[in-house]
Amino acid sequence: MRVLVTGGAGFFGSHVVDALVARGDDVLVVDDLSTGDRANLDKRADLRISDVSDSAALAKALRGERVDAVVHCAAKTKVVESMEKEALYRRVIVDGTRNVLDASKTLAARVFVNISTGGAIYGETPECAVETAPTAAESNYGRFKAEAEKLVGASDLPAITLRLANIYGARQRASLEGGVVAIFIGCWKRGEPITVFGDGAYERDYVYVADVVEAVLAALGGKHRGIYNIGTGVATSVNELVTALTAVLGPPAGVRRAPPRAGEVLRGCVDPSKAARDRLWRSRTKLAEGLRLTAAAEGALAPSA
Ligand SMILES: NC(=O)c1ccc[n+]([C@@H]2O[C@H](COP(=O)([O-])OP(=O)(O)OC[C@H]3O[C@@H](n4cnc5c(N)ncnc54)[C@H](O)[C@@H]3O)[C@@H](O)[C@H]2O)c1
Repeated sequence: MRVLVTGGAGFFGSHVVDALVARGDDVLVVDDLSTGDRANLDKRADLRISDVSDSAALAKALRGERVDAVVHCAAKTKVVESMEKEALYRRVIVDGTRNVLDASKTLAARVFVNISTGGAIYGETPECAVETAPTAAESNYGRFKAEAEKLVGASDLPAITLRLANIYGARQRASLEGGVVAIFIGCWKRGEPITVFGDGAYERDYVYVADVVEAVLAALGGKHRGIYNIGTGVATSVNELVTALTAVLGPPAGVRRAPPRAGEVLRGCVDPSKAARDRLWRSRTKLAEGLRLTAAAEGALAPSA
């Protein structure tokens, strides 16, 4: 099939592209390379550099094309930055999604897979959140992703929204707002101490990137509609994550303690049982194994490990 992947040069989108190319699909990517990187992208994918929030530029980039399906990953994704750059986040996430939906109709797509977030939409989750839980986004990022979901739901395209937990895996950026697994593995690799905010009790649902890619491939089957959580249903604290990484990589060079970060939820976890019940997807990779695969891909394992 011919598939358009927006944001395909980014961390997650590039893994989706790899899987599509590997199964023989023809892949078209739209990305403005603002946080993505050409180096992430398989050479067999056809890259069009364009901003999804610019409807005219997007239409021009896709003129004359036809696709069977769309996977919409393009977004600004940083929670703290979204509070400082509200207009940018609204434009890229809300207007961008509207434009990609419009373009998908012109492209005659039969399936639209919207990549959303569980981590930033549900707010505090003492119990892992089910899809019907009220959304309580605390950041502009989460708020705009929720708005984008509504646009997708209201569209007459056959569409599915995947609310992803905290993804980890190779190629994730280790910048300050990158995933904590990428940040920690970077520290281990360089022999630098890790920084733990607060008491390290913050819990997140960490899901391995290859598992999430499998959810996208299943969604592209076109049999499911609506909203699905994609996570493990297991909440892991930062302290537990450090213990799990220590089992893979040995002890860190040191642990620095820093004050808790404002606005962080204490516990973020999604309940993935609807996806399993509806035979869409279930996670397969246990945290220990996913961390080992990620550390190996990032060259952080000792040669004998
Ligand atoms: N990484 C996670 O843990 C996680 C969790 C939940 C949801 N998500 C969602 O997954 C998707 C991908 O996130 P990621 O972590 O890979 O981030 P990323 O920054 O690596 O990927 C985003 C991609 O979108 C591109 N992009 C940004 N603005 C654009 C624009 N205006 N026009 C065209 N392209 C644009 C970037 O260049 C980049 O390649 C996002 O929709 C994000 O909300 C990620």
